[in-house]
Amino acid sequence: MASFNKEGSLQLDPASILPSTRRTASNLSNLLQLTLNRLRRNRWNILALPFVCLVFLWLVPLSPPLPPSYATEWGEERWLPQMAFEGNMESKEEGRFVNFAPIKEEGFNYQLQSLILQQHTAFLSNRSLAYHPYHVHDSIFPISPTHWPLKSSRIPMTALIWSVSSGFEGMFDRRRGIPLKHFQTVCGVHEIQRVELHVDMAHAGDEGQAVEMMKNMARKLEDESLGRCVEVSVNPFDRGFFESHFPEALFPSLSTSPVVKQFSFSPRVFRIINRSLELLSPGTKPYDEEIEMVKKPRRAKPWKNLLALHLRKSTDSEYCSSLGERSAPFVGFNKLPKLPGNENVPPPNGMVSAARQGLYLAKCDPPILDIIARARRLRDNHPTLSSIYILSNGDYGFVAEARKWLESDGWDRVLTSADVAYKWEDREIVEAVDTEIARRSGVFVGNGFSALSSNVALLRNADGKHTDFTQYW
Ligand SMILES: *[C@@H]1O[C@H](CO)[C@@H](O)[C@H](O)[C@H]1NC(C)=O
Ligand SMILES: *[C@@H]1O[C@H](CO)[C@@H](O)[C@H](O)[C@H]1NC(C)=O
Repeated sequence: MASFNKEGSLQLDPASILPSTRRTASNLSNLLQLTLNRLRRNRWNILALPFVCLVFLWLVPLSPPLPPSYATEWGEERWLPQMAFEGNMESKEEGRFVNFAPIKEEGFNYQLQSLILQQHTAFLSNRSLAYHPYHVHDSIFPISPTHWPLKSSRIPMTALIWSVSSGFEGMFDRRRGIPLKHFQTVCGVHEIQRVELHVDMAHAGDEGQAVEMMKNMARKLEDESLGRCVEVSVNPFDRGFFESHFPEALFPSLSTSPVVKQFSFSPRVFRIINRSLELLSPGTKPYDEEIEMVKKPRRAKPWKNLLALHLRKSTDSEYCSSLGERSAPFVGFNKLPKLPGNENVPPPNGMVSAARQGLYLAKCDPPILDIIARARRLRDNHPTLSSIYILSNGDYGFVAEARKWLESDGWDRVLTSADVAYKWEDREIVEAVDTEIARRSGVFVGNGFSALSSNVALLRNADGKHTDFTQYW
């Protein structure tokens, strides 16, 4: 006998096939019929599978496997007004472009600090900066298949920063920024000329010489003999640049540059913060949907109730002691003069090793008791402070513990990034959200070895906040 078992596979009883040939003919046609029916039904099952999956995802949308598509921002970058019209200063004929070698460092704030300096150089030289997407990982795929939940490999910069594509440069009679894709379209491979821009570390400490160096870079790019399309083959604004004294020396000129004055995060970032504004700073005016394009930007009021604490955690357990071993300086704009907490780093040469390691640990990874004590002191000195925002890349356990201790110390509210960027679509741009919240908080306590804190320090000081309100562990 032939029959189907429960799973639908064919079961043949050998004894029933062998003897009778007469019975076999009708049996075989039955069998054929049955198999065909089964196959037909299976095919419908296979076709229905994706549909069932979609319904399932729709019903259980907690952790969709795919990251957001950023279709709006990719679309905006394709149709920027600066690229749309013939005869613009940025058009194929009139344009002059500069593209910097990609920034290899991972992490949004690493890329942002270089990007601001690149924008400044392009602005000075009246060339359109070809800005790159935010590189989350190096991958040829748009979505990195090795991460779960799945992550984008590239995110349009416009989804994080509005001022790369806003075209603010036009208000100052300079060529406006364009996305890298546009550069690749209008600049043929053979037309691209490569230049190197040298950073002379000997000039790092002196404001006059640092400004002169930036002007020289701009002059080199402006040079009439260079064609429309220029590529800077090595990114001059690298780790060494930000460890040097250049950032402090350049701050006075950079902070008044339209590149920093007109700097703005994206509407996507503002929408996320907008949603939680009543928690962050009750009664504050929400962000406008339309970002104003005015030559003199209005100043955003600080959130005087909010104390932002940057608790950076490294995945490398030796990280802080390795900083101590080489007496590492604070990075970037964390070194700006008069910011409380940065005066004793790097320590004097003679300091004994144990004391030096202790100092670096306290600055780089402060223990929870120190965090609570610091927050309490700040509240005593600044009575408007009532809530805390924790910026941290630490694991859930650490953040939950810090929060528990702070809550028990009488703070009205202790918020973390997860309370504000709580939707799955927000996850990939949470660093930009954190940076903007820290920028606007009443008092900020940063980590001197972090690019995030450095960008916050740059923006806060350029916004004109008193130096006492931007501090370090
Ligand atoms: C930048 O270049 C454009 C096109 O040549 C020119 O019209 C404009 O005046 C230049 N801007 C400055 C500040 O030189
Ligand atoms: C922020 O919220 C206000 C009022 O709730 C709204 O009018 C505005 O469009 C929002 N801004 C953004 C960027 O979504």
